[in-house]
Formats: sequence, structure tokens, C-alpha cells
Amino acid sequence: MANETASLAESTESVLHIWGRKPLSGHVTISGAKNAALVLMAGALLCPEQCRLRNVPNLLDIQRMGQIVRALGVKLEQKGNTLEIDASHIGQSQAPYELVSQLRASFFAIGPILARLGIARVPLPGGCAIGARPVDLHVRGLRALGADVQIQHGVVRACITGGRRRLQGAKIYLDYPSVGATETLMMAATLAEGETTINNAAQEPEVVDLANFCRAMGAKIQGAGTKTIRIVGVSRLHTADYHIVPDRIEAGTFLVAGAMTQSQISLSPVIPDHLTATIAKLRAIGTQVVLESPNTLRVVPGPIEAVDIETQPYPGFPTDMQAQFMALLTLSNGNSVISETVFENRLRHVAELQRMGADIRVKGNIAVVRGVPMLSGAPVVATDLRASAALAIAGLAADGKTTVQGLHHLDRGYENLTGKLLALGAHIERVSVATSDKGSNGSTPSESSS
Ligand code: UD1
Repeated sequence: MANETASLAESTESVLHIWGRKPLSGHVTISGAKNAALVLMAGALLCPEQCRLRNVPNLLDIQRMGQIVRALGVKLEQKGNTLEIDASHIGQSQAPYELVSQLRASFFAIGPILARLGIARVPLPGGCAIGARPVDLHVRGLRALGADVQIQHGVVRACITGGRRRLQGAKIYLDYPSVGATETLMMAATLAEGETTINNAAQEPEVVDLANFCRAMGAKIQGAGTKTIRIVGVSRLHTADYHIVPDRIEAGTFLVAGAMTQSQISLSPVIPDHLTATIAKLRAIGTQVVLESPNTLRVVPGPIEAVDIETQPYPGFPTDMQAQFMALLTLSNGNSVISETVFENRLRHVAELQRMGADIRVKGNIAVVRGVPMLSGAPVVATDLRASAALAIAGLAADGKTTVQGLHHLDRGYENLTGKLLALGAHIERVSVATSDKGSNGSTPSESSS
């Protein structure tokens, strides 16, 4: 009996059923920023005392990062949305492949481990659903800081050479303002000897949040949020208690959900400045975004006009909002051109939106979206994290029932999306579905609410 239960559990997955065209209303609480939380967990490895991170979203990616931190021999305790990380002792300099391969952001731990221990071994994270995602900029920057970095047997091995105990400050120019490379190098330089300048740095709010956390621990960092970051290395950091910024991509996703379902919803807490490009595009489309208080926005929908979008590094339009806007523009009054310039393979959701009746043509990294009057619900498969949210939003606006599979993508980055949408009045249900005939007599998939 126990075995039967186990085999059934192994062959189930969750799907989201959405019955569309039900207007939403009410208020959404926005969680802490996933991408900031992940890198701040790596940043806590710089500190030989216990640190506290607040407003950490409860997500699959955060759990995976927690496993990696623990595998390094670091103590980590979770109490609700607060994490206590005690890296006074780091027992391992090698992150385990099985875990790193599941979470690309874990590669960013190479900077802090190297800076603390003088040696770090992190498996290459490999490509993912949206592109090849190399780490050459991280590697070149670490070499500039005086590390010997070799890539052998799929593992990046970095060590401080020349009998020195600390990395050496350097002038670094990034060929591209990579978020991850900027974060890796900023963390590594925090404990280096002397001054480091990162030119053409990423300016994303998550980079600024990391800099603020490091400063709270005693790091000397200036210019985060601009193209030039200056870091004067210190020999030791101290404990800090830090509250993570709200997730600008989750907030943007709910704004688009309001626009697409023609619903007035409000959201907080948000930092409106982090949403400038998203709000500007929504206004160009015909949706008003009203500032109700310094950290509360209300979306007031209107007719959906076509607009062109090109993804760019911050403060440009975020690639992490591209799929959601594409879903919205499928219902516009005209033709929109969407150019994805950040990742080379981030239009896989097009085929799924087409299954719902969207009219989209793709050439290379450009999608031409011709607005249609209505989408129709269909079974669809999430191809990556943001695509999963785009399909859920499309389902909310579509006629009839949509079933979204591949929810492990959604669970990586949206805290309790189903619960938040239910609270807004969405007609939506998340269920477990048996995906093979094991334990289900080979009949139609069995479902149970979860
Ligand atoms: C981060 C975000 C991700 C977001 C992306 C761009 C996290 C955990 N993830 O990813 O949600 O979509 O920023 O805003 O914070 N590149 C190189 N060499 C490198 C590094 C990057 O060629 O060494 C390329 C990438 O392949 C990609 C582009 O630079 O084409 C941008 O990547 P990057 O800014 O590094 O994104 P991530 O930090 O991986």
C-alpha cells in the first residue's frame, strides 16, 4: 500500500484550471523580490556573523538556494518570511552540481565563497529554458580581481594565487551590463584589498538591494544603480538585519493582469520607480496606473492599443515582463512588434498563446503580434517562469477554460499566485493530476485539490 501511494505521488503534477472572463477586484500584497532574495542569500556568505533577511518570498528557487547554502556547511533557519543565515563557518568550498544545475542564480555564490575562503568550486550552471546563459563575464571579472580561474570537467575552480589571502581591487569593464556578473564581482570586491571599479555595471534594483545589504554589513560601495560602481574593500563584514525590496516583476505581472481582464485592482507594497518602464508601456497601451499612496498603485484599464516593445537592461523595459505584455497585446487594436534583445530563446510562449487563438508571427527574436478580439481557453504548457505567468493571465482573459501545465516554473518565482488570484475573485483552481496510469487503472487522469 505504501508503495502504491509512493508511485502515485511520483507520477502526479499540479495544473492550473482557469475559467476566464471573470473580472478581478480588490487588493494584492506584493511579496519580496525573488531575484534580490536569491543574491542576498549568497551575499550573506560574505559575513562571518549571523545575518537576518526579512521579506524573503516563499518560493521553490529560495528553497533550492537554501539547500545550496546548507550544503556549503552554513546554518540557515527559516521563520515565515525571515531567514537567518549564519556563515561564521563555511565547511565546503564546492557547491553540489545537482543543486546548482537546478538554479542558475546559485552560481553567483562563487564570488562570496572565493572572497571568504580564497578558493571556490562551483559547477557550470549550463543553459536554461530561455538561452545558453554563459558565465564568461563573471569569470573574466574574477580573473581581473587576481583569481586564477580554470574550467575543468564542468566545474569553475577559482582560487587566490601568489600567497595572498585576499583578492586585489581592479578596474573592470563589463562588455554587457550583466546583472549576475555585476553582483558576483561586487560581492567579491567587497572583501578585496584596495579599490574596485565596475564600469558598464547593471543598474537593476536588485543590484542596488544587494549593495545596500552589503553596506548594512559594513561594505564600502558607492554608485550602485548607476553604470559605475566603486567598491573599497574591507577585511571583515558584520551582522545585519535587512528587509528585501518588493518584487517589481510580480507587481508588473498583476498590473498586466488588471489591464488584460479589464479590472481595477490595487497593489502594495511597491516601489513605483522600479516600475517606470512597465508603467510607461501600460500607459501607452491605454491603461492608467494611478499612484494611490507612495507605495500603492491602482490599475485602471482602458482600450488595449498596440505598442512596440524592445527589452533592454534596466532602466529599459525588462525581459522578465516581455511574456506578460505579449499576452496583453494579443487583445490589442492593431499590430505590435516585440523585440527580445536580452535572451536569445525567450519567445517559446508564442506557440502556447497561439493555441489560445493569438495571432503572432516570429522571426528570430522578433514577434509581430496582431491583435484579435478574443482568446479562447485551451490546454497550454508553461515553458519558463515568466511564460507561466503570461499564460495564467491570458487564461483569465480568455473565453472558456484554460489549463496550464508545467507549474514547477510558476512555483519558482510567484509566491502563492493561485491564492492571490482567488482573493481577487478569479475563477481558478490548482489541482494534482496523475500523469501516468500507475495507480489510476490507466483511466483518465485523476485529480485532487491541493
Ligand atoms: C538576471 C535575473 C533574470 C533576468 C536577467 C536580465 C536573477 C536570478 N535573474 O539573470 O530574472 O531575466 O537578470 O534582467 O537575478 N551574459 C553573458 N555572459 C555572462 C553573463 C551574462 O553573455 O557572463 C548574457 C546572458 O546570456 C544574457 C545577458 O547577458 O543574454 C543578460 O544576462 P544577465 O543580466 O547576466 O542575467 P542573469 O543575471 O542571469
